[in-house]
Amino acid sequence: MIILGINETSHDASISLIKDGEILFAGHAERYSKQKNDWYNNKDIYLDMLNYGSPTHIAYYEHPQLKRSRIFLKGGASDWKPNIPMDLPVKYFSHHYSHACAGYYTSKFNDAVIVVLDAIGEYNTSTIWVGENEKIKLVKKFNYPFSFGLFYSAFTQLVGLMPNQEEYIMMGMAAYGDPNKYFDKVNSYFPSIKEQKYNFHKGINDWGWVTEDDKFDIAASVQKVYELRLIEFMRYAKAKTGKDNLVFMGGCALNCAANTKLWDLFNDIWIMPNPGDAGSSLGAAAALYGKHINWKDPYLGHDLGGPYPVKEILTGLIQNKVVAVASGRAEYGPRALGNRSILADPRDAKIKDKVNLIKKRELFRPFAPVVMEEHAHKWFKMNHASPYMQYAVECLHPDKIPAVVHKDGTSRVQTVNKEQHPGLYDVLSNWHALTGIPILLNTSLNIKGQPLINDKDDIIEWQSQYKSKVIS
Ligand SMILES: [Fe+2]
Repeated sequence: MIILGINETSHDASISLIKDGEILFAGHAERYSKQKNDWYNNKDIYLDMLNYGSPTHIAYYEHPQLKRSRIFLKGGASDWKPNIPMDLPVKYFSHHYSHACAGYYTSKFNDAVIVVLDAIGEYNTSTIWVGENEKIKLVKKFNYPFSFGLFYSAFTQLVGLMPNQEEYIMMGMAAYGDPNKYFDKVNSYFPSIKEQKYNFHKGINDWGWVTEDDKFDIAASVQKVYELRLIEFMRYAKAKTGKDNLVFMGGCALNCAANTKLWDLFNDIWIMPNPGDAGSSLGAAAALYGKHINWKDPYLGHDLGGPYPVKEILTGLIQNKVVAVASGRAEYGPRALGNRSILADPRDAKIKDKVNLIKKRELFRPFAPVVMEEHAHKWFKMNHASPYMQYAVECLHPDKIPAVVHKDGTSRVQTVNKEQHPGLYDVLSNWHALTGIPILLNTSLNIKGQPLINDKDDIIEWQSQYKSKVIS
């Protein structure tokens, strides 16, 4: 049985292919169509997938009848149907169940509470499940309009950003604002998980005038309220299930500042590195397989070949260059974790502005560090690994690596060891031997407004736009 998992008609279409519990391929449609947040899969991604195997079964990440009824109730057409690209047996799974399966079946846990928080599935917006002995059971569901995701997205829109896409920018803005300035006002919209009376789907339309300065204070206040409600919800989930291991999924699990606080509540945490809807193509495939699948690493997409260009990267870094690298298989998930990355010296404060100018993005936005796993605790306040940049933690030596420390003194850390990525680890250990610093700046390699670099054509375009070489 070779299972093709499909996620589509959401904000980040993707497909995955698994065989006997091994992940053969997993990729994002946008990297092939070059349309950021592409809603639909395309011929090129399917052709690339076929290099890894021909599916015998299809698993779809949503339930068509439920989805149709919701679209109808919202006033849309009632004839919506999913795009099924091949004439194969198809099984449909609900939106939140696909999220739950993506998390539990890629985790190392036999026994865990699974929490899914997003904007909206078919109707579910927040669910609590128990995973035990390969089975996943629903414990509690919260339906639309109650929604953590819609709460965060509505305020994202209020501060002038794109809802369902630019929540990560508002999260970055939060560090620059005063979290208490609008706390009471924001809190009144979502005072507890038992009281969320406002329908955030309509946006925040009763706030009043928002000035440019207000935006940062609003972002900070929203982040504070979100974290309080998230902790409240997680305590409730833990009390309800009695589990000490947490699997956290859904778009809300991308909030790395809030995620860090969950380590105070649970013994161990697994957030699949693609926790939003794009991860649900793998979740649907895993749901059909019905057992744990072998999660090794997120390098599951288009293959540019190798080996990893360790020497060339080091040569560029020693010359104080900003180094663009594209090698091996593309990352499945929103973060560049070494295979489609820009790497630079984190000691140089000016390098942050230099990289921001190359990427043409807002100057307040922080960059992340990649650090040798065994050194992470000496540089950052953390006692767990973070291989997928899912946690923002306090930096212990911000003066030594200013380019990768955010305004609030935290860094969104990626830890790496020899097994996870031997090439990147080799770069870091050589860099450590040369400079005494086991850390580099790591940000995604993409042209402004476009998805991560995927293939050779993208490399050619990047090189012509930026007049600098991509090492591959
Ligand atoms: Fe979702």
